[in-house]
Amino acid sequence: MKERLPTIPAALTALAAALGWACASAQEADAAARGLAATCAGCHGTGGISAGGTATLAGMPKDAIARTLRAYKSGALEGTVMPQLAKGYTDAQIDALAAWFASQKAR
Ligand code: HEC
Repeated sequence: MKERLPTIPAALTALAAALGWACASAQEADAAARGLAATCAGCHGTGGISAGGTATLAGMPKDAIARTLRAYKSGALEGTVMPQLAKGYTDAQIDALAAWFASQKAR
């Protein structure tokens, strides 16, 4: 009995560590996406809510944002600034940006 006691706290510590890690990584992913999205705020507004002149990205379907960014990146879609800008992002970053803007409330 005595030898078995330490295993429970050890298991709890491992579980707590695993849960903590899962939470932290989700928050880190969100923070990373927000950081990427900050680049877009200058033209598309804070949180993707445009003050006018550009599209409001907040609440736009994730697929539409990702598809449009990839089209700018590949040159399939023409534009003034977006083709140039989209070339700077990896596919994973495009997906993260699309997911983040899609999850923002358009108000
Ligand atoms: C310098 C200003 C500027 C910045 C910065 C900018 N955009 Fe744009 N965005 C535009 C303009 C202007 C258009 C219209 C297409 C064009 O002329 O390139 C556009 C179009 C778009 C569209 C298509 C919208 C639609 O409904 O057709 C998407 C999606 C988009 N931008 C996403 C982004 C994302 C994501 C970022 C950040 C990584 C970003 N933009 C940063 C100016 C900007």
